[in-house]
Amino acid sequence: MYTQAMSVGPQETAAKVQSVEEAQAQQAFDARIDAGDFIEAKDWMPEHYRKTLVRQISQHAHSEIVGMLPEGNWITRAPTLKRKAILLAKVQDEAGHGLYLYSAAETLGTSRDQMLDALHTGKAKYSSIFNYPTLSWADVGVIGWLVDGAAIMNQVPLCRCSYAPYARAMIRVCREESFHQRQGFESLLTMTQHGTDAQRAMVQDAVDRWWWPSLMMFGPEDKDSPNSEQSIRWGIKRITNDQLRQKFVDACVPQAALLGVTLPDPDLKWNAEREAHDFGRIDWDEFWRVINGDGPCNRERLAARVKAWDEGAWVREAALAYAKKQAMKEQAA
Ligand SMILES: [Fe+2]
Ligand SMILES: [Fe+2]
Repeated sequence: MYTQAMSVGPQETAAKVQSVEEAQAQQAFDARIDAGDFIEAKDWMPEHYRKTLVRQISQHAHSEIVGMLPEGNWITRAPTLKRKAILLAKVQDEAGHGLYLYSAAETLGTSRDQMLDALHTGKAKYSSIFNYPTLSWADVGVIGWLVDGAAIMNQVPLCRCSYAPYARAMIRVCREESFHQRQGFESLLTMTQHGTDAQRAMVQDAVDRWWWPSLMMFGPEDKDSPNSEQSIRWGIKRITNDQLRQKFVDACVPQAALLGVTLPDPDLKWNAEREAHDFGRIDWDEFWRVINGDGPCNRERLAARVKAWDEGAWVREAALAYAKKQAMKEQAA
């Protein structure tokens, strides 16, 4: 899903150019970026570009994998077989997104073990949205509508990211996210148009709880996003956090009207001059608290991932033993 935390991280300074060869390589790299070329895994790239991508892609991969947990919570309690099948497929898609993205990050010379170790020890970030609980079935629909919707907004520009393996992964991810968004919206529409008053109230309650955290998915305001400018210069990022957030709000307002729900923001109104919606202030204290580990479910999410890793050790060992045996057979043949 989700890329919000990508803009969050220590600001790195550009590595000093050491030699004439490196200076030339840097010049050629800059020219390619300026020309809108894609960079492949084997191409020369500055260390800072590589590190920025590793951080962004691995945080994105972690978000996909952790993102399976809140919705996975409802698989056994989906109200119908159809909804259960859809939810299973969606959660499985998110696992696939994680795998494409870990693979893309590996092309930059970092191992999956390193990335997972950073996640499990709490060093790596992932999208703060998954540290909120899913309290009712309506949360599953709202996650599809708002969270996957925000993810698409964030990720469509990444299909044109200058690092080709990431861009290629994102094309497929975005197609699937689009399905996720629509299934969420359709599930909510069913409840608001054909459901009972209690079901409509359940949808409104879920919207009230997820709206603000969804807006936080776009990351800090541009003025507090130190890595953004360099990422845009490198063609990793194409649109700023605030621009994406605005597009998202403008897209959601008519959708909320169609659903018959109220977005929980008294300051939300159309601004004819800007031709965009004005909206209220995000609680940035809450954002930083959750990003830094103190959200409602941070500990639970991390513990679930560590447990899954530990309990899966025998699968990894068996797969490695099998691969070794196959390689020996091939050598002998
Ligand atoms: Fe998704
Ligand atoms: Fe995803």
